[in-house]
Amino acid sequence: MNAIYPVNDYGPLMPGLVMAAVAIVHVFLAQFAVGGGILLCYFQWLAMTGRSVDARSFVHGYFKVLVLISFVLGALTGVGIWFTSIQVSAPTIGEMVFHFHWIWATEWTFFCLEVVAGYCFYRYHDQLSARTCLTLLVLYAFAAWMSLFWINGILSWQLTPGHWLTTHSIVDGFLNPGFWPSLFFRTIVCMTLAALIGCVVVNVIPDLSREQRQELINKAAHLMIPMLAMPVLGAWYLYSMPSDSRSWVLGGSPAMMLFFMISVGASLAIGGYALIGLWLQKLYINGATASLLLLLAFGATAGGEFVREGSRKPYTVRHVLYSNGIRPEEVAGLRFRGCVSDDPFPVIHEKQLPNEVVTIGAKVFRRQCAVCHTMEGSNAVVHLTGAWDADQMRMNIAKLQQTKPFMPPFAGTAGELESLVQYIQWVHAKRPGSWPGTIDESNLPKIQRWLDEAGTAPAGNSPHPQTTEAEISIAPSVALGSLKR
Ligand code: HEC
Repeated sequence: MNAIYPVNDYGPLMPGLVMAAVAIVHVFLAQFAVGGGILLCYFQWLAMTGRSVDARSFVHGYFKVLVLISFVLGALTGVGIWFTSIQVSAPTIGEMVFHFHWIWATEWTFFCLEVVAGYCFYRYHDQLSARTCLTLLVLYAFAAWMSLFWINGILSWQLTPGHWLTTHSIVDGFLNPGFWPSLFFRTIVCMTLAALIGCVVVNVIPDLSREQRQELINKAAHLMIPMLAMPVLGAWYLYSMPSDSRSWVLGGSPAMMLFFMISVGASLAIGGYALIGLWLQKLYINGATASLLLLLAFGATAGGEFVREGSRKPYTVRHVLYSNGIRPEEVAGLRFRGCVSDDPFPVIHEKQLPNEVVTIGAKVFRRQCAVCHTMEGSNAVVHLTGAWDADQMRMNIAKLQQTKPFMPPFAGTAGELESLVQYIQWVHAKRPGSWPGTIDESNLPKIQRWLDEAGTAPAGNSPHPQTTEAEISIAPSVALGSLKR
């Protein structure tokens, strides 16, 4: 299995970033849909039991927002994820579908149930008894949460495949070490988002007095109480992560740590406000403050998702598939055969490249680097190699997994690596019209030596899958990598 799939070129944006942006928006909306269901059940129950007279008007107003936002935008971005992921990494999404198609089919079944229950409520709630409305809402909330339940198994498997690596059993893959902590954690996030959006909605429902609004807000804030468990669940989740990924988050990678801190900081701010202000002191919260808290929640979600996606590096499926779609066991063969010799797709703007050497370099870049880098846009290789001479570039790329442990090992021949270096240097030189059309063969032996020294295994972990959950000592390069910066 060494298929090459076409990838999209997003100009100055690296594909990984485009994927993350679509995914973050979708996750935010989808989590709102799940939490919204729970909140609506709670309010319908409050209304039916006479615990809150105004809860009924809230249910109807809130449901309209839920339908508009989560059904319409959620479904659109959901399709957007599929659309983007096949353009960014067809092998990854293929791998997920291959192993978990039944889980996915189950998830879609629940999604259908969610849509049907939601639509029935939306269309007929004013003709139905309160009890039937509650039944529909419970069905809606249950189906929505179940779709989270199923998808959570597939997503957490990517980072912590656990025993699945040896057994390949779908149950082991689904109930992987990250499954429960991330399911509980996400459920709490869902409820928090729903409560915050509830506070915004309360502020825009017409014809309510301030006391009525305050009462509804305090009730909605009940859904934020589970946030108290977040630190424990977060620690559990971190603990379930492979030790190298955890080390990126806790300082090994400055960018990742920054996003982690943003996420934790924003969650603390929301949690503090919710618990002290809304729950203990029963404060009123106006639309602007509620929107601000919601914005913070978006920041926390974005930071969290970024960390979750980023900490998988250099894999999209740990030990199975590198981010660039190459399998760990393919690397040795590709070093020998070459990674672009059977690449049938022309490179973008091929006519503007001066010769075959540079074209091959561009193809190597596209196959191995482009998912995480651009040439001159975000995470630009031209910029990152700015201070390196040609030999430093050759060596650091040949030893890619030691240069930064979150990069996969280089998977091509010495000649391809030299072509890549020529391509980078050509761009460095501002893309001149003429450039040497042959590579200097005398460079190849030392490149080969560096490739051999680096080996074909990824940094910092044993190539043997059994060690996944064991504490794996992190290669010294991690420490060096962070010192170098
Ligand atoms: C899994 C994603 C990923 C892949 C694939 C990848 N890189 Fe990187 N690379 C990164 C990240 C993340 C950094 C850190 C950027 C920073 O420090 O700001 C990085 C850093 C670098 C650096 C700077 C290293 C330093 O010490 O400052 C170079 C050069 C580089 N990559 C080149 C490449 C080349 C060439 C390829 C393809 C052969 C490649 N990368 C493939 C993610 C990746």
